[in-house]
Amino acid sequence: MSKSRSLDIAGLVFGGDYNPEQWPEEVWLDDVRLMNAAGVNLVSLGVFSWSKLEPAPERFDFGWLDRVLDLLYAHGIKADLATATASPPPWLVRAHPEMLPVDASGVRLEFGSRQTYCPSSPVWRENTVRLCTKMAKRYGEHPGLAMWHVSNEYGDELSRCWCPASANAFRQWLRRRYLTIDALNAAWGATVWSQIYTDFGQIEPPRATTGPGNPAQRLDFLRFSSDELLGLFSAEVEVLRELTPDVPVTTNFMGISPGTNYWQFAGREDIVSDDAYPDPADADSGYGAGFGYSFMRSAKHQPWLLLESAPSAVNWRDVNVPKTSARRRLDAMAAIAHGCDGVMYFQWRQARQGPERFHSAMVGHRGEASRTFQDSLRLGAELAALAPLKGTTVRARVAMVVDWDSWWASSAPECLPSQRLSWAEQARAWHKAATMLGVTVDMVPAEGPFDGYVALLIPGLFLVTKAQADAITAYAESGGRVLVGCFSGVVDETNSVHNGGAPGPLRQLLGVEVDEFWPLADGETGVFKWGADAFAVSLWQEALEGDARGLSHYEGGPLDGRPAMTENGRARYLSCVLDDAGLVAVLREFLADAGLPVRQTASPIERITRTDGQTDYTFWLNHAEAPQLVETPAGAVDMLTGQCLGPTTTIAAGDVLIAAKHSEEGAGQ
Ligand code: GLA
Repeated sequence: MSKSRSLDIAGLVFGGDYNPEQWPEEVWLDDVRLMNAAGVNLVSLGVFSWSKLEPAPERFDFGWLDRVLDLLYAHGIKADLATATASPPPWLVRAHPEMLPVDASGVRLEFGSRQTYCPSSPVWRENTVRLCTKMAKRYGEHPGLAMWHVSNEYGDELSRCWCPASANAFRQWLRRRYLTIDALNAAWGATVWSQIYTDFGQIEPPRATTGPGNPAQRLDFLRFSSDELLGLFSAEVEVLRELTPDVPVTTNFMGISPGTNYWQFAGREDIVSDDAYPDPADADSGYGAGFGYSFMRSAKHQPWLLLESAPSAVNWRDVNVPKTSARRRLDAMAAIAHGCDGVMYFQWRQARQGPERFHSAMVGHRGEASRTFQDSLRLGAELAALAPLKGTTVRARVAMVVDWDSWWASSAPECLPSQRLSWAEQARAWHKAATMLGVTVDMVPAEGPFDGYVALLIPGLFLVTKAQADAITAYAESGGRVLVGCFSGVVDETNSVHNGGAPGPLRQLLGVEVDEFWPLADGETGVFKWGADAFAVSLWQEALEGDARGLSHYEGGPLDGRPAMTENGRARYLSCVLDDAGLVAVLREFLADAGLPVRQTASPIERITRTDGQTDYTFWLNHAEAPQLVETPAGAVDMLTGQCLGPTTTIAAGDVLIAAKHSEEGAGQ
């Protein structure tokens, strides 16, 4: 029976990763004093502490963690307690060197960083379950335990392994998927390049080889690798469900990231959490973070947590530009706007040792006087004032399709019409355009359900199954609007091109056939002519045939005069990559046509509404470097100042306005 487990914290969460094991105990007292001053109510604890908790096999040292948990609890701070299985201790690796991961060239990676384990290693699985059980038994009843934090960022440093144990597990996975070797040969197109296998034992993971590999083999390997990490997660979740059935479980995501299929992970956790590190040096990074946040709130259609973010600079880019205080605040508020119930940072106190010495923290090297701590004080106070938002949700009327199989298949390094076309870049650009038009977008899996949404954005769905195409077609037939981007409907679940070519099973819906893909050379541009307007095309065009009505056409170049965007009933097909202005124009028309209130002019103000049905909390986030004037609902109250708003308000560059008002229909737009 499914059980609802939620986080027992009053108000919004504020806190960070806390690594007390890196500090002498007298510092802990200063930590809790400063945490209390800043209003910290939750810390992620023990994420990388296995070697400290179990310095030798079955020799545990829980004393320090007992003391930290008690100290935190005594100060009103709860723990998002790790099962501590993110990284192995040296003794485990030395006793079982075969559990170290192997890369595609056959090089075994050495211990010395983190996450140095093969996801398919039976020893690793057994030991993570063992430690998780120990942790659950010891701390399951601790009153300071708020949530379990399983592992850390699955798929971050390591998402796949090519060692013999992985090869073995891959073969078993293939057996389960295909049952017979003939079925596998058929799915993999094994007649090409003399690859007909006669036994599953002949199959290896796609290691470095002489030339391009088999795309079907690679796609299956990516699916398998995601499943292996999911298996590790599930094994711990099972232990926790059994021993601590009332404690919610999370594992931290990394935005919409390619390593693992997050739809599947979300289905097995209680609270979705995300780690987001938008680069302050990148003008578009605020929109990029929103792209990830839209997924987080859609993954379970409930509030989520920003479990990690940077108070200022990170340490892992080539150049790590710090965040201004305003940017840090805007980033935090953007997450809250997107349905997040709390903001946490990596990390609480800036490290003195290890690779993260120069990663910013809520308390900088200078301690209490550091800018990041002073900002933490201010932010903590502001988040406390936003407590009424807890539990409220965002209602979007537009959804974007996100599908990992399709992403994996279209990002293969080998032999595509162009290596430049990226699903993630296209999806981010579409999401940004919708944001600038004032439209909130949820994310949905390719097979739906799509109910409740008036329009579906599909920036690219290279791999589409018959069932997915049927679901999308049925959605359009029942009144939904669909906008499909280029290079869609190309292959089936085995990565084989659909009979008759693209858009495969979407052909009836879209009323087009792709005669040829026509990628543009680096630096080359084309022209998308739409009525009186013309927009720049780059990277990709397609030569379309079919009965769909041409809405726009290519001007000049090899496809001169041929349709660039088409319409067939309620479905449109955009066969090229447009610049930002073109995308805004296409989305504006499409969304307005779907009956949505869309801004006439794109604006750098992101507007999102959270609601509990009684009160609407609307955020206006200014992503621009100049002040912006916005229309505000008369009678709304500024949540941060308590002032009553007039019909218009000026929002300073990088600032945010949050207004509370009695709910009205249409919240979310
Ligand atoms: C990731 C990890 C953290 C930390 C941060 C630094 O998100 O989960 O442990 O290394 O990166 O940005």
